[in-house]
Amino acid sequence: MKHLLTMEQLSEKEILSILELADQLKYERKHHIEHPLLKGKSIGLIFQKSSTRTRVSFETGAYQLGAQPLFLSSRDLQIGRGEPVQDTARVLSRYLDCIMIRTYEQKEVEDLANFGSIPVINGLTDYCHPCQVLADLMTIREKYGLLKGLKMCYIGYGDNMANSLIVGGLKVGMKVSVATPKGYEPDKHVLEFAKDFKDFELTNDCIKAIQNADVVITDTWASMGMETEKEKRAKDFAGFQVNAELMKYAKANAMVQHCLPAYRGQEITEEVFEAHADEIFEEAENRLHAQKAVMVQLMKEKED
Ligand code: CP
Ligand code: NVA
Repeated sequence: MKHLLTMEQLSEKEILSILELADQLKYERKHHIEHPLLKGKSIGLIFQKSSTRTRVSFETGAYQLGAQPLFLSSRDLQIGRGEPVQDTARVLSRYLDCIMIRTYEQKEVEDLANFGSIPVINGLTDYCHPCQVLADLMTIREKYGLLKGLKMCYIGYGDNMANSLIVGGLKVGMKVSVATPKGYEPDKHVLEFAKDFKDFELTNDCIKAIQNADVVITDTWASMGMETEKEKRAKDFAGFQVNAELMKYAKANAMVQHCLPAYRGQEITEEVFEAHADEIFEEAENRLHAQKAVMVQLMKEKED
């Protein structure tokens, strides 16, 4: 693994190896065993969008690994004034050991990786959110002890989260069922990837999708940058809410995951959210451990 740009680029083996290292780093953290595996390294964290979890988990994660995190807001960087990403990549490669970037276009992340000479981590684009999905898979595996054969159901907007969940879930042998309103389906490249898997289903019927699910996942109906569409989407997504009535069709002990931030009363009810809050906040915590594993694998591998 040279970069983490999408879930598509990872093999099942690579995903599982990240999850194993993440479990180990979590264990060590819980038992106060220090692991300064990246002592002397620096990671730049470029944000063109808001963030709570990604920023704080990368900053503290780098610190726990002995590395220096640099928070780089696009408001302050010259990139925000139009300096090309190609030049930014070549400059930052001379100072840093790794870059994490959260931005809009997937192409920007790919350009950063192509023009720079250090590992690049995608901290969310409009297309995908691989760091989050690694944390989700870690959390699901913690509860069930395995991933293969479990049924993942995603309800709502076929956004970056849906895209990465479909690819990640199918790669590790899960059954993946997605229900979206018409016109809000996942990306066509993801559907192209998924079409050969017999355990993939895309429907407009939430009840069909959630039937016997082991894991139910949802996300905001309007991602960052789509704020002006909120009112329209509230109407378009009526009936695509994860609520107690819908949860009756999932398995009795099904878990619920949400990448957060969550909008109660929209994609999920307060009741379902609070009933599954422990799982959802474990998922948020696991961002820290999963990303530490990614940083170690990328920066260590580069050293070897
Ligand atoms: N889930 C997630 O990426 O959260 P932030 O937007 O707070 O980073
Ligand atoms: N789909 C959401 C995820 C936030 C972590 C967004 O892109 O805003």
